Amino acid sequence: MSETAVMDVEKLSAEQAEAELARLAEEIARHDRAYHGEDAPTIRDADYDALRARNSAVEARFPDLVREDSPSVRVGATLQSQFEKITHRVPMLSLDNAFNDDDVADFVARIKRFLRMDGDIAFTAEPKIDGLSLALRYEQGRLVSAATRGDGVTGENVTQNARTLNDIPDQLTGPDVPEVMEVRGEVYMGKADFLALNQRMAEEGKQTYVNPRNTAAGSLRQLDSAITASRPLKFFAYAWGDVSTVPRGSQFEMVQLLGEWGFSINPLMGRFESVEAMLERYRLIEEQRAGLDYDIDGVVYKVDDLALQERLGFVSRSPRWAVAHKFPAELATTILEKIEIQVGRTGALSPVARLTPVTVGGVVVSNATLHNEDYIAGIGSDGLPIREGRDLREGDTVTVYRAGDVIPKVMDVDLSKRPADAQPFVFPETCPACGSVAVRDLNAKGRPDSVRRCTGGFMCPAQAVEGLKHFVGRDAYDIDGFGDKQAEAFYNWGLVMNPADIFTLQKRNERSLTKLQNRDGYGKTSVDNLFAAIEERRSVPLDRFIYGLGIRHVGRTNSKLLARHYHTIEAFLAPMENNVALLEQFAGDGAALTKAVSKDEVEGGETWGSLVSIDGLGTVAIQALVQFFADADRRRVVDELLAEVTPEPVELVVSDSPVAGKTVVFTGTLEQMSRDEAKAMAERKGAKVSGSVSGKTDLLVAGPKAGSKLTKAQSLGIEIIDEQGWLDLVGN
Ligand code: IVH
Repeated sequence: MSETAVMDVEKLSAEQAEAELARLAEEIARHDRAYHGEDAPTIRDADYDALRARNSAVEARFPDLVREDSPSVRVGATLQSQFEKITHRVPMLSLDNAFNDDDVADFVARIKRFLRMDGDIAFTAEPKIDGLSLALRYEQGRLVSAATRGDGVTGENVTQNARTLNDIPDQLTGPDVPEVMEVRGEVYMGKADFLALNQRMAEEGKQTYVNPRNTAAGSLRQLDSAITASRPLKFFAYAWGDVSTVPRGSQFEMVQLLGEWGFSINPLMGRFESVEAMLERYRLIEEQRAGLDYDIDGVVYKVDDLALQERLGFVSRSPRWAVAHKFPAELATTILEKIEIQVGRTGALSPVARLTPVTVGGVVVSNATLHNEDYIAGIGSDGLPIREGRDLREGDTVTVYRAGDVIPKVMDVDLSKRPADAQPFVFPETCPACGSVAVRDLNAKGRPDSVRRCTGGFMCPAQAVEGLKHFVGRDAYDIDGFGDKQAEAFYNWGLVMNPADIFTLQKRNERSLTKLQNRDGYGKTSVDNLFAAIEERRSVPLDRFIYGLGIRHVGRTNSKLLARHYHTIEAFLAPMENNVALLEQFAGDGAALTKAVSKDEVEGGETWGSLVSIDGLGTVAIQALVQFFADADRRRVVDELLAEVTPEPVELVVSDSPVAGKTVVFTGTLEQMSRDEAKAMAERKGAKVSGSVSGKTDLLVAGPKAGSKLTKAQSLGIEIIDEQGWLDLVGN
C-alpha cells in the first residue's frame, strides 16, 4: 500500500495529494473496467463509492490538482466492443455524494448562495436505485434506441434488449409527448427475482451473479435478446436527456408526466421545501429500505424548478442541482495487533495499524491508518485531545469504520478491554529503514509538524526506492516494463540507485556489469524490450522531467506551471543557483526574501521574483524547490540525469473562446447571477478569475456600485464591460 493511501485527506500535502489522486485514478479505472466492462466487480459497491469519495475529497481540497483522467471527470467505464456505440447527445453524468445531514444542509446552502436566493427552494427526494442507467430515445413517441451509460459520453446500443422489458413502452401515449424525447432511468432486478435466478443458475451448474445490480447489467448486455427477455428486468424513469421541448416546468411534474406516458416511477418520490423535510423523507426511505424489493443505496435530492437547474449547471461530471445522500457506513470492533511504520518518498513516517481481520460493511479489513504519532497518543492536529485523550496501544480493542474514505480508520478504543500489560506506543525517533534521525519540523505556526520525517535523504533506502517509483510513475517517466516492482528489485540488486542509473543500464549490461539476462524472469527479449522502452524516454516534456524529480510540494500542477513559465530546462535551472544563495542570505526565510525582493532591496532578486511571479506557485513550493537544488547530493543526481536525458521545451496551449487564457475581474453588483455563478462561467470558458485589478488584468466586468477597482482599471486602460456585455461576450 502506498504511503498516501492511508492518510487522512485533511493531512495530505499538495504533493501527497497528487500522488494519491494518481493512485485513485488508476484504481478506480481498474474497477470501472471490471464493473461496467465485464459485469464482474472486483470490489464492493460501498468500497468503490469510498474510493470515489476519497478522490472527490482530495480534489475538493486541491482543486488545482484535478487530473485530466480524473474519475470525477471521466464517468464510468471504457467500452467493450461487442455492441454498437451510441454517442449521447447530452452526456450521462453522475451525482455528487453527501454522507450526513450537514452535507445536505451545505448542499442546499451552496445552491442558495450560488443563485443568490434567500427564500425556500423546493427539492425532490427519491430513492437512489442501485441498478444501471439507460437512455431511451423516442421520436414521434416511438422508441428508436436504447443506450447504456458507458463512459458517460458514448454508450452501448442495447435497443433490441431494452424492448423486451415490460416497463419500457414501445410507444408513448398521453399528453404533450415531444417530438424527440429521451427518457432516462434505472434498469434493475428485484431482490426476490435475483435470488430465484441465481438459484436456477446454480442448479444448472452455471456461474452465479454477485448482486442484483450486476445481474441486471449482465442481463441487459446479452448479445441474444431472448436471454434478456427471459430475465425479469424492471425500469424506473427519473430523468431525461435530449428533448425537443420540455413540457413541464419542474422535476416533480416532469416525472409525473413520465408516469402518465406509461413508465414506472418511484412511489417514494416527494417534493419538499426545507432541509428538515428532505431529511425526514431520507429517514422514511431508510426505514423502508430493507422491505423494498429492490436495492437502493441512498436518496437523491434534486432542485425542483427546471429553470433553476439550468442556471446551476454542472461541475465537471455532476450537476450542481442534485446530490446523492448515501446511507451510512458501518462500524466494527477488532484487535489492533501491531503498529507499523512506513517511510515515504519525502521521508514521512506513517503509522499503520495491523488489525485482526474483520468485516466492515461487507469488506474484510486488516489495515487502518493511524495518521501520525499525535493521533496514536490521543492528540488532534490542533493540539487538543481526541478520543478524550485515550491513546492507542498494541493489543487494544478498537472500533474501525469506513465512511467516504477507502482506507478504514480507527475511531476509538475500548479501555475496559485493554490488556494489563499493554504499553504506550513509543513512536520511533529514528527512521526504521535507515536509522537516520527522524524529526518534526516546525510548521508555519511554530508548532511541531504532525509528520515526523527521516533526515536520511538519498541514503535512506526507503526514500530512494519511493523516489525511484515516483520517477518511473505514470505522470513522470512512465517507462514501459519498469514500474514499482522493478524500481524496488533493481535498487535491491544494487543496479539502479538513482534515476540516472536507469539510463546507463544498457551500457553497463553490454560491459557485463549487470548480467541482467540471468536475473529472475529476464530473458533476451525482455531485456531488449526494457532497453528500448528506456531509450524512448531519453526525451520527455519538461514538466514531466521536473515532476519526476520528486521535489516536495512540486507536483503535477506546479511542474506544469514551472515548465510553461521557463519553457526550457536551461531557463529553469539558471536561476536556481542564485536563489540558493539568496535564500541563504535570508536564513531560509522565503517570505522575508519575497518582501525584500518586492521592495527592490535585494541585488539579483529578479530570479526569486521570477518564481514568485508565477501565478499559482506558492512560497512553500518555491522554498522547497530552491532547497532541493541547494542540496549537493540532489543537485549531483540532477546533473547526472541531465547527462543522459533531454527535457523537451513546453509550448503554451490556446483555446478558441474569446476569454480563454484571459484574466478577468468582477466588481460591483451583479444583477443576473451570483459571483460564484459568474466565476464558474468564466472558468468554463477558459478564463482566469482574479480578485484584484493589476497590470495582468485583461478584462473588468463592472456592475453598479463599482468602486476603486473600476477607477484603477480605467487608469490602467483595461477593457471594461458591464454584466450584459459579459453575457453577450461569453455567449449566454
Ligand atoms: S439522477 C445528472 N436519480 O445514480 C444525474 N440518478 O450517481 C442524473 N441513479 O448515473 C441522475 N437512482 O444511474 C438519478 N433517482 C435517481 C437515481 C439515479 C439511481 C443512478 C444513475 C446515475 C447515478 C449517479
